[in-house]
Amino acid sequence: MPPTIHIDPARTIAPVDPRIYSGFTEHMGRCIYGGIYDPGNQHGLVDENGYRTDVLDALRELRVPVVRYPGGNFVSSYRWQDGIGPKDQRPRRPELAWLTEESNQFGTDEFIHWCRLLNAEPFICLNMGTGTLEDALGWLEYCNSSANTHYANLRRANGHPEPYNVKYWALGNEMWGPWQVGQLSAEDYTKKAFQWAKALRLLDPSIKLVSCGETGFSDWDRVTLKTLAPVVDFHSLHLYTVSQNNHDINVMGPAAAEKGIEITKSLIELAKIEAGVERDVGVCFDEWNVWDPVRAPGEKGAEEHYDLSDAIAVASWLNVFIRKADIVKIACIAQSVNVISPIITSPRGLFKQTTYYPLKLFANLMQGMALDIHISTSSSSTSKGEEGDNDDDEDTNFYTGPTVPPFIAHLAAHTPPSARPTRWIDASAVLAFPSNSHNNNNNNNNNNTKEIRIAIVNRHKSLSFDVPILFGPEAKVNEEQVTVHEVWSPELGDRNGWEGEKVGVVERRGVKWEGVWGCKAHSFQVLVFELA
Ligand code: AHR
Ligand code: AHR
Repeated sequence: MPPTIHIDPARTIAPVDPRIYSGFTEHMGRCIYGGIYDPGNQHGLVDENGYRTDVLDALRELRVPVVRYPGGNFVSSYRWQDGIGPKDQRPRRPELAWLTEESNQFGTDEFIHWCRLLNAEPFICLNMGTGTLEDALGWLEYCNSSANTHYANLRRANGHPEPYNVKYWALGNEMWGPWQVGQLSAEDYTKKAFQWAKALRLLDPSIKLVSCGETGFSDWDRVTLKTLAPVVDFHSLHLYTVSQNNHDINVMGPAAAEKGIEITKSLIELAKIEAGVERDVGVCFDEWNVWDPVRAPGEKGAEEHYDLSDAIAVASWLNVFIRKADIVKIACIAQSVNVISPIITSPRGLFKQTTYYPLKLFANLMQGMALDIHISTSSSSTSKGEEGDNDDDEDTNFYTGPTVPPFIAHLAAHTPPSARPTRWIDASAVLAFPSNSHNNNNNNNNNNTKEIRIAIVNRHKSLSFDVPILFGPEAKVNEEQVTVHEVWSPELGDRNGWEGEKVGVVERRGVKWEGVWGCKAHSFQVLVFELA
């Protein structure tokens, strides 16, 4: 039986939080310097303050709502005070995360200015490595205080009379990792973060705090959430999926994130029950992407050159966030420019990687109410998946090959066995209200227009699938007017680069709907159905 998609607009999950399309800019490789900030640029690509205008334009197309900064591992030995004030007086420092030097020519004020240009909210990660609580309070005061106090006055003296009102603050980055300056045990981190949260809220009760999590399926998450869920607004997860030059592993990796999110949701609920608190605590998946640190090492700037297989993996990642809209409230692709990024710059311009296009389609189209899509396949599939290597079944709907060994990279996704089976066809759906959105490019919309938008990935390298889509009884779709946005290319290894683009988006309007969608091998598409 072919995979069949069932969609009933009455079966809603939760509104898609636009913050799942957020970004991340770390002082790492060419993300800041030469990426978003390039003051010496000789090719007319920067504004009067040195911000790359082509990069801003490319990120605006992705509608990035929130940007995390300044790390990442970088933050754990960062002195924020070095990055403010007259540029010629800012100290150069050794940089311990990526073993470089930090010029401090770009710091907090430049970051906030850049976020305003992008129309994105800043999200600051605090240094819990070498940094003290006093440093953290000083940073918060510098950014948010309107009082007549030292750091607020220092901000004014630096030319910024109004508080920045930075809403999102993270309590450290990957404090569990052996690579982290100031690594802590889960117990030690929990005690410290609890006290930091209390003090930071005393200074500014309006802020949203993010606890440092791991993958969601790690004991660190269990231990820290038990105490911290009652005092934070979000719990952060990080995961990178890795290909090991194996397409199947590359595209199935996001199943690990989905499992981690499910476990985290339960851990949050348990901690709230135990503490008797009602506050909303969401998942902030603030580092996710495809990254093979062996292929693109962090110390060398982690400039991945993505191919079509990676774009399909990114689409699968984004399907996870839509399906988990009830709990995932923020997600930041790591990172926004040059470093494991959908955009690569040179002094003369930029190119958009393959992974840019699924991200762009999701950010622009997959907004609205997430729907509880169901994919049915043959009845034999459940037992097959649980047993994993039962290959006497000819069912071609499921992947049953090897998962990623956990040792390949420090954050490489290791798909937990319970996250399997994973289907070749992966999908998510939203009920969208185009007339309420600034993404309304359909001229004859009236105020009642609704659309069902379905993001479908066929992850199989060589099989195409004819996928029936069955709509619930309430959904009357306009069968004359389906719009299709497709990301596809003949070869899985196809890439974009300075020489040109092999992978982009092909859009077709007015496609006649006949009940079944033919999904090409290794393709991604968003189908847009108008509802009567
Ligand atoms: O995004 C690259 C790095 O990956 C970040 O600095 C760190 O948090 C993670 O290990
Ligand atoms: O934990 C379950 C709930 O799911 C959270 O309170 C809320 O943020 C999400 O919708």
